[in-house]
Amino acid sequence: MISHPEIILEAKGVHFAYPGEAGEAAAALSGIELAVRRGEYVALIGPNGSGKTTLLKHFNALLKPSAGEVLVGGLSTAAESNLPAIRRQCGMIFQNPDNQLVATTVEEDVAFGLENQALPPAEIRGRVSEALRLLGLSELAQHPPHLLSGGEKQRVAIAGILAMRPRCLLMDEPTAMLDPGGQSEVLDCVRRLNREQGITVIHVTHCPAEAARAGRVVILDRGRVAAQGPPAEVLTDLPLLHGLGLSGTAATELAALLREDGFKLPRELLHGWELIEHLCSSGPKI
Ligand SMILES: Nc1ncnc2c1ncn2[C@@H]1O[C@H](COP(=O)(O)OP(=O)(O)OP(=O)(O)O)[C@@H](O)[C@H]1O
Ligand SMILES: [Mg+2]
Repeated sequence: MISHPEIILEAKGVHFAYPGEAGEAAAALSGIELAVRRGEYVALIGPNGSGKTTLLKHFNALLKPSAGEVLVGGLSTAAESNLPAIRRQCGMIFQNPDNQLVATTVEEDVAFGLENQALPPAEIRGRVSEALRLLGLSELAQHPPHLLSGGEKQRVAIAGILAMRPRCLLMDEPTAMLDPGGQSEVLDCVRRLNREQGITVIHVTHCPAEAARAGRVVILDRGRVAAQGPPAEVLTDLPLLHGLGLSGTAATELAALLREDGFKLPRELLHGWELIEHLCSSGPKI
């Protein structure tokens, strides 16, 4: 018998409206159904205001549904007594690393959350040095965080979360403020954590190329799941993406233009190297 992979995050019919919003039309979330398996890497995309940040905050119980239920590792966010365990399981990373760093050295910053949990000093030291090592920050342990580059700061923020040993990393546009070098620095680390440590990732992004590297893409639109599936399926559906004001990867968009010009190219082209391979192997078919 095939056993079902374990569901770690689940939103069941989740509705949510911020205080002051009136009526269903103004709701931030309108009946979200989403289940994420342990170890998955999910990219969450959608237009501005579609509910991505709001949904992410439900998964670490910063917000609670007005109707429906959110379960983290089987625990409902509705029960106050579940919240410490839920927050231990789900660490959240925001867009601006400056707002997440609090201490005077990198090492102290990474230790901050652990000290709040009143763990023994030896345990804290061990976890901090492990997190620094995993994020490639050991050399910077004594540096003041505010003097680091954006990519380094975001890696410090992730190390601080990782030291808490979460099972899920909820990331809200973690690379939005970084240059391309800083972006790949952070994302390479997160992908490695996902692959090697089995950490479940939900990654909110406006960048199609980042979403293309996920295991699954979920599109939100007006507080609902508009589509979901493998990147090669969802992110190559240009009528769907364009209809929502989104775009495909540069390679997918270019392939569509070339197809209009008579090039014979498969629809599921997602990455630049795939496009190059097809163009080089088949040549123009005009
Ligand atoms: N603190 C708040 N108070 C009132 N309304 C809010 C608040 N935060 C978000 N909203 C509203 O809820 C809806 C969903 O917002 P949310 O921030 O979840 O969208 P998003 O998909 O993350 O957008 P973006 O891509 O711009 O980050 C929007 O209509 C927004 O105006
Ligand atoms: Mg947002």
